[in-house]
Amino acid sequence: MNSKLLQPYNLNSLITLNNRILMAPLTRCMADDDLVPTQAMVEYYGRRAEAGLIISEAIIIRPDGQGYPNTPGLFSSAQIEGWKKVTTKVKQQGGKIFAQLWHTGRVAHPFYFQKNNNDCADVMAPSAIAVEGTVPRMRELTYQVPKEITEEDITQLVNDYAQAAKNAIEAGFDGVEIHGANGYLIDQFLHYDSNRRIDRYGETPENMSRFPLQVVDAIIAAIGHERTAIRVSPGAYFNMAADVKDRQVFDYFLSQLTTRDLAYLHEGMFDDSMTFDYLGGTVSAYLRANYSNTLVAAGGYTAESASNAIDENKFDLVAIGRAFIANPDYVSKVKQNDELVEYSEEMLTSLI
Ligand code: FNR
Repeated sequence: MNSKLLQPYNLNSLITLNNRILMAPLTRCMADDDLVPTQAMVEYYGRRAEAGLIISEAIIIRPDGQGYPNTPGLFSSAQIEGWKKVTTKVKQQGGKIFAQLWHTGRVAHPFYFQKNNNDCADVMAPSAIAVEGTVPRMRELTYQVPKEITEEDITQLVNDYAQAAKNAIEAGFDGVEIHGANGYLIDQFLHYDSNRRIDRYGETPENMSRFPLQVVDAIIAAIGHERTAIRVSPGAYFNMAADVKDRQVFDYFLSQLTTRDLAYLHEGMFDDSMTFDYLGGTVSAYLRANYSNTLVAAGGYTAESASNAIDENKFDLVAIGRAFIANPDYVSKVKQNDELVEYSEEMLTSLI
């Protein structure tokens, strides 16, 4: 294939990618019981270093952010050391890697963190509204009604995000992607379904964007705008119900993000052919129209469909998820026009 997809792309003055194919963040639940990356994870990421940029699986910034088993962290020195091995391997292979920083908010469950006897054992969210249903892979656990976050909690959370970003740089990551998508903590502030606050963090687009922007700005102050990116889900599709008013929140939030000069903005979707009435179409088209810097699309793309869309200037970069699980050598296969192995869910049980 001879297309822009395989040509280098300049994110900014500090970071140039070898090509426009990103490995999407993919939670694999394979860290050890101290949430430290393992040697198998070092090899797994190393095999995928041909991606223009690897975005790590979501990494929790502190214990009470955990909602799934064995998701890695970036708050202890052992975790930082573990990630150093991953980033060293990726760099040795000529690749680049960002850390995706995660707090699941109301999708967390004390089952995962109360055992550590820390003093922040509450599930925390903008409002005391539980997610429906049971915890994945733990069917006997139901989601809890979260504690409404206080202003003091917010200050601590912003500090913890910034500290995790510093830890990521110490661990050798090229930058961080703030996980602002998929119904987790930051996204919970940005949607009316989960944010019913009546203080300066709720009710209006400016207020609902306040905490997400505080996190963005604290991370920029800690590691620089060139190394800071964010993933967002203006279309509610996961752990969240849609509200037509969400549109105004994202219009405002995106206008603010544009002024931050981030490394990139990443769409959080499983299927970008899905349309949302209140966004006027697909999520990527909505983001393109409302954000003027580098845009990463995701959700059901092939190299061919992404290449065509990039040629039509619909977005700048593509993130590939499931096909990267099935094909560690995805980029080589695209270059050589080789057939891809088809993804299946059984592949999630091991790190090939
Ligand atoms: C995901 N996705 C995801 N997204 C995210 O922002 N952080 C994460 O940790 C994960 N984890 C994750 C695990 C697994 C097993 C899957 C399948 C997906 C979403 C992912 O990044 C991507 O948006 C979707 O997979 C859609 O892209 P593809 O797979 O159609 O290329």
